[in-house]
Amino acid sequence: MSTKPDRPADNQVAQSGLADVVACESAICLVDGEEGKLLYRGYDAPELAAKSNFEEVAYLLWYGRLPGQVESDAFLAGFTGSTALPTRTVMIMRMFPRAATSMEVLRTAVSSLGHWDPDSGNTNLDACLRKAQRLTERIPLLATSHQRLRGGKEPINPIPGESIAYNFLYTLHGKDPDPTSVRTLDAALILHADHELNASTFAARVTAATMSDMYSSVTSALGALKGPLHGGANEEVMKMLMAIDDPSKAEAWVLKMLENKQKVPGFGHRVYRTEDPRATVLRQYAEELSDREGERKWFDISCEVERVVRENTKVYPNVDFYSGICYHLMGIPIELYTPIFACSRVVGWTAHILEQWANNRLIRPRAQYTGPKERKYVPIGERAS
Ligand SMILES: CC(C)(COP(=O)(O)OP(=O)(O)OC[C@H]1O[C@@H](n2cnc3c(N)ncnc32)[C@H](O)[C@@H]1OP(=O)(O)O)[C@@H](O)C(=O)NCCC(=O)NCCS
Repeated sequence: MSTKPDRPADNQVAQSGLADVVACESAICLVDGEEGKLLYRGYDAPELAAKSNFEEVAYLLWYGRLPGQVESDAFLAGFTGSTALPTRTVMIMRMFPRAATSMEVLRTAVSSLGHWDPDSGNTNLDACLRKAQRLTERIPLLATSHQRLRGGKEPINPIPGESIAYNFLYTLHGKDPDPTSVRTLDAALILHADHELNASTFAARVTAATMSDMYSSVTSALGALKGPLHGGANEEVMKMLMAIDDPSKAEAWVLKMLENKQKVPGFGHRVYRTEDPRATVLRQYAEELSDREGERKWFDISCEVERVVRENTKVYPNVDFYSGICYHLMGIPIELYTPIFACSRVVGWTAHILEQWANNRLIRPRAQYTGPKERKYVPIGERAS
């Protein structure tokens, strides 16, 4: 006979925001919030950002180990085979209202991709890995194609054999990107690739755990990522820097925000109690790009914002604080910052979906009921008002 209780114990209280609740076992990513460390399958993420590339990190997250040369070549060929977007998905994107945001479009367009995936109903592992690879190749194309369409331009096909970072910039701007921008974007993609049970990954796992399909699970994740408390924060950071506009105005701006009990975008984290290691790397890239472009204004404003936040609060910059400046210096419009997050995190989402399916159990927590106890139904004519 089962010894499990059929309802939460009376003394069990809800943990606000599920903070520090361990909801599953996972071998994909370790976030050490005290030490400020981030490991992917045991490898230091900042080291991967310096030495590896995004495609190799995707392999690592999906297969659990780094590929050998032959495996790597075969894997990269698989990316090249899924470059073009289905024509009908592009047709759908042409029909979206002009006011639709990039993340709204991405959410709907990704969902539509599932209709034309030849592996759509196939649930075996190889088919799921192919779907993960196609999603990783195509989400960047959806983002750049929509950006071009809304600007009255035609989408551009990517160049087979080039990296995802290269093709993101190429299909956005329509010209060969410079190597520093490609390298910086590649590092940013690596650093955003996974982060344990963040809100969007949890959403993906919850959907996957019902034995729904990969496209539905990734669509759930996209909905969660869109919010300003999660992926949307990088856009808010750049908007704030633009509103401040001058390093000398940063202090007063930040103090006013804090006085008004507003959260400064790009700061704070549920897990890190020290600096987010991804922010450390992206700060360096932001400074390098600023010097190369001869445009230090945004970096200088950021440093001032960081100084004032650090002097007046306990929070540190997170991954979103310095990524926006990097993207801005590469000529990427603000509305694509959160989609770039999705271009990277799709690797983590799909790795978690596969891990969930490898040992699945429906995710179904309980709520601590705070409503009224049993009430007697009163017919409408007999109610007081
Ligand atoms: C990320 C975030 C949602 C985490 O939220 P959380 O774990 O629920 O943390 P809380 O909101 O409870 O914050 C804890 C404390 O830090 C403060 N704090 C958190 N983030 C802050 C920020 N961005 N600016 C100023 N103070 C902040 C809170 O005011 C709170 O202070 P208190 O204990 O004196 O009340 C939150 O820090 C935030 O909204 N940050 C801005 C958005 C952002 O950058 N998101 C991207 C995350 S990668």
